[in-house]
Amino acid sequence: MLNEKIEKALNDQINEELYSYYIYLSMGAYFNAESFDGFANWMELQAQEEQEHAMRLFRYVNDRGGRVKLQAIEEPKTDWNSPLDAFEDAFDHEQYITGKINDLVDLAEEENDKATLQMLDWFIEEQVEEEATTEAIVDKLNMVGSSGSGMLALDRELGSRQVTDEEG
Ligand code: FEO
Repeated sequence: MLNEKIEKALNDQINEELYSYYIYLSMGAYFNAESFDGFANWMELQAQEEQEHAMRLFRYVNDRGGRVKLQAIEEPKTDWNSPLDAFEDAFDHEQYITGKINDLVDLAEEENDKATLQMLDWFIEEQVEEEATTEAIVDKLNMVGSSGSGMLALDRELGSRQVTDEEG
């Protein structure tokens, strides 16, 4: 049985993950509108991963006899100045989410909730990957700078991203 504090914090994290879904979907819409089909593809797959993160927590709360209570999802930003601007936001967002996962770990330690700590291990590892991936794309966009051909090559590269078994 989950204690109330943990249940509330996990429900808040479900909301954070659903907001992550929303913000990446919004970035996907921006890239579609700008005809960067590869970046759009990457963002749509990222959004799907975030939905899966929310569902992972959703199932965990249910499995522990807790009650999932969905909350309003904040309206995401809809426009960015450039692909770099959007991916910098994505990298910042992942660092913010890492902070939220770390807060959850602190709380689970305080409450001596070992099952929640074990469940959060997956998220800790996932955040290392999420930060590394978005930071690498920011680095590449900085290298590409204003080169049109470089941007198109990167768009093609990100367009090849596919859902893998490891994701989600
Ligand atoms: Fe669910 Fe990208 O953190």
